[in-house]
Amino acid sequence: MRSYSICLLPGDGIGPEIIAEGCKVLDAVGAKYGVEFRYEEALLGGCAIDATGTAFPETTLEAAQRADAVLLAAVGGPKWDTTDPTKPRPEQGLLGIRKALGLYTNLRPVQIFAALADASTLKPEVVDGVDLMIVRELTGGLYFGARERFYDEAGAGTDGAAGQRAYDTLEYREYEVERIARQAFEAARKRRGRVHSIDKANVLETSRMWREVVHRVHDEEFPEVELFDMLVDNAAMQLINRPADFDVVVTENMFGDILSDEAAQITGSLGMLASASLGDGTALYEPSHGSAPDIAGQGIANPLAQILSVEMMLRYSFALDAAADDIRRAVTAVLDEGWRTGDIADVATPAERIVGTAAMGDLVVAHL
Ligand code: IPM
Ligand code: MG
Repeated sequence: MRSYSICLLPGDGIGPEIIAEGCKVLDAVGAKYGVEFRYEEALLGGCAIDATGTAFPETTLEAAQRADAVLLAAVGGPKWDTTDPTKPRPEQGLLGIRKALGLYTNLRPVQIFAALADASTLKPEVVDGVDLMIVRELTGGLYFGARERFYDEAGAGTDGAAGQRAYDTLEYREYEVERIARQAFEAARKRRGRVHSIDKANVLETSRMWREVVHRVHDEEFPEVELFDMLVDNAAMQLINRPADFDVVVTENMFGDILSDEAAQITGSLGMLASASLGDGTALYEPSHGSAPDIAGQGIANPLAQILSVEMMLRYSFALDAAADDIRRAVTAVLDEGWRTGDIADVATPAERIVGTAAMGDLVVAHL
């Protein structure tokens, strides 16, 4: 029997509730396909700060490195929110593990489930046919550049008085752009063969280098893929203007963060979107949404993005495509039957079709 070890990072807020449903589904497909999944749980984010004083303990890195794949739920919450640069933040756990595992490619697919098409705030004819993949560079740029906050005795306050100064640095190296470009073109080859590369080349030097490198990789290795450059401000507009025209969207870390939230909203149901973060070793899978501290512990969170991140894990880490397809079909069937968690229910949803976190997980398992 094939056997894989999964490092589980439940994190904070609704994390523990939704990851339990992810494991439930993983166990069910495992039983069906004769694959065993073994779990090792570790701390990341706010819960790690509470237990150890740091958001990304060494033991968590070791557990992640030992595993065949990492399944993360969500980190963060108001309890740990601070603007004090000396205090630990849950997000440092997320950024730390991305960097430490070398997860430079972040895939965020944006697809519409037909049963949820009405959830979008955009007109149905605009949303019709949306199926895009954001390929976000995840270990470079502003997130990881030199930064500092300091007190300037003269010049940073009003009229040259003393005050605070701060900076963050946006830097990319050629190989970082090259490898993410390659990932995007490879993804496009398996899809509709079209890449939009998003930058701000009319202003930023990093973007001009980005554009040059993306075109070189394209011309040398992927000439058959259609490549379009688009400035990030225009991309923000076009994503809601004609979202169905996009296939693969490749961009640097910060632009990708912003555009992926925008793209998620095209579907109107952030609770449905999964993501995969890939590098050269162990990969990490997580929902695109956050830890929803306001509804934590109530058993009402939507586990489907977590379950769909398990689907991505089966595809990208274990090449279990048939099992992955089963999960997608099961989720689609559950939605087609009208089952909803509160976040994706609407006025037309009968009360008896609104279910909690665990019941939603059970429904998916029943349809496998
Ligand atoms: C995301 C999140 C993170 C990011 C935060 C929580 C650090 O917004 O995964 O998109 O900005 O990358
Ligand atoms: Mg984000």
